[in-house]
Amino acid sequence: MPGRQTVRFPKEFLWGAATSAHQVEGGLHNQWTIWELENAKSLAAQAPYQYGDLASWDSVKHAAKSSTNYVSGKAVDHYRHYAEDISLLQTMNLTSYRFSIEWSSIQPDQDTWNAGEVEHYRKLLLQLRERGIEPIVTLWHFTLPVWFAKMGGFERRSNVRFFVEYVDRVMAEIGDLVTYVVTMNEIEVYASESYLQGRWPPQVQSRRRAFNVLNTMIHAHNKVARHLHQRSDRYLISIAKNSMHIYPGDDSWLSVRAASLMQYYQDDYVLKRVIKTCDYIGLNYYFSARVYGYRTHNPDERLSDLGWDMQPANIQMVLERLYEKYKKPILITENGLADGADASRKWWLTQTIVGMQRAMQHGVPLIGYIHWSLLDNFEWNKGFWPKFGLIAVDRRTMKRTVRPSAMWFGKVVKQLRSGS
Ligand code: BGC
Repeated sequence: MPGRQTVRFPKEFLWGAATSAHQVEGGLHNQWTIWELENAKSLAAQAPYQYGDLASWDSVKHAAKSSTNYVSGKAVDHYRHYAEDISLLQTMNLTSYRFSIEWSSIQPDQDTWNAGEVEHYRKLLLQLRERGIEPIVTLWHFTLPVWFAKMGGFERRSNVRFFVEYVDRVMAEIGDLVTYVVTMNEIEVYASESYLQGRWPPQVQSRRRAFNVLNTMIHAHNKVARHLHQRSDRYLISIAKNSMHIYPGDDSWLSVRAASLMQYYQDDYVLKRVIKTCDYIGLNYYFSARVYGYRTHNPDERLSDLGWDMQPANIQMVLERLYEKYKKPILITENGLADGADASRKWWLTQTIVGMQRAMQHGVPLIGYIHWSLLDNFEWNKGFWPKFGLIAVDRRTMKRTVRPSAMWFGKVVKQLRSGS
């Protein structure tokens, strides 16, 4: 039992897991589904060059070299299996579920409003409420309706009004069942992957356009948050911010300066501009970066299946820094690892819980911990081979299996909730 003498988690602490619509629901039609079909073959052909050096390669190569891996298709059919998935969430003693609403299915064309799809989310929310599970609703998680993408998506400031209209309308129908709202997920990751690195649709590589998209999305968040706050005072609103612990590897002037500059662009550029409209900070923590000179050289002692350097305990530093700087409560909206063999998840969770306890001991008001992810899912341009799920899914049969580390996590959560 991790560090139980140190600090007690409050009774109302949210223990949960997260998904996003595109990654789990299946049967969608948005800018990603089109891009996947166009790019699946070449992504499969590039896989040996992209991932061939990973320690996990032998176990993932079969999937990674197949073009079907890169097409979201039925995903893990969460759209039809959600009741079962919520039951499994409950078997792990979790008390919260973060999921996203798919704009493209509710408004497939600019002039079409699909009431049945809104009803779907209402049913999901009602189930959660009936079972005493606190929903955390994400309004935008990387996908765009095709019509919105065609008119330039978040590249055009004048398009923001379409997003605001959609949010307004959808929240009028489901908002009575919602308290925690995440307006937009990782806008900085989206701006970078889609407009700077060119790895995600629309595969642009331009610093100018990336900054423009980022600034437009900051504007979109602020607009939506103000709007929702005006509509009702029941909402607790934030973005989900991907934050890192960035630290100098030595005390040379250059390393110290570079680390602090990188930290500014990673975190503060966005947070400074949205914090006023946030009731809490939604934190997605996956990475640390140890900086020597201008470059990151991580310890690389333990790597995930994706080759990501894992330093879970550093979540403590991220929590403390964010609280010291922004003085808002923090909800960990994502945290997790790709670990198909389930070899490191238990260690990761233990380190994370200790990190959270230490931060709380140092005064950080923590609302909850939401693990990424509830289910194995579609990991964007990498497809299905990375396994982030507490629950494994066999996509041929759609059979769900709770991973051993997740059963262990469930027991720990039970003890932490009972205050022992
Ligand atoms: C995203 C998720 C993604 C996860 C793991 C986060 O950046 O919000 O959609 O699956 O990280 O890469």
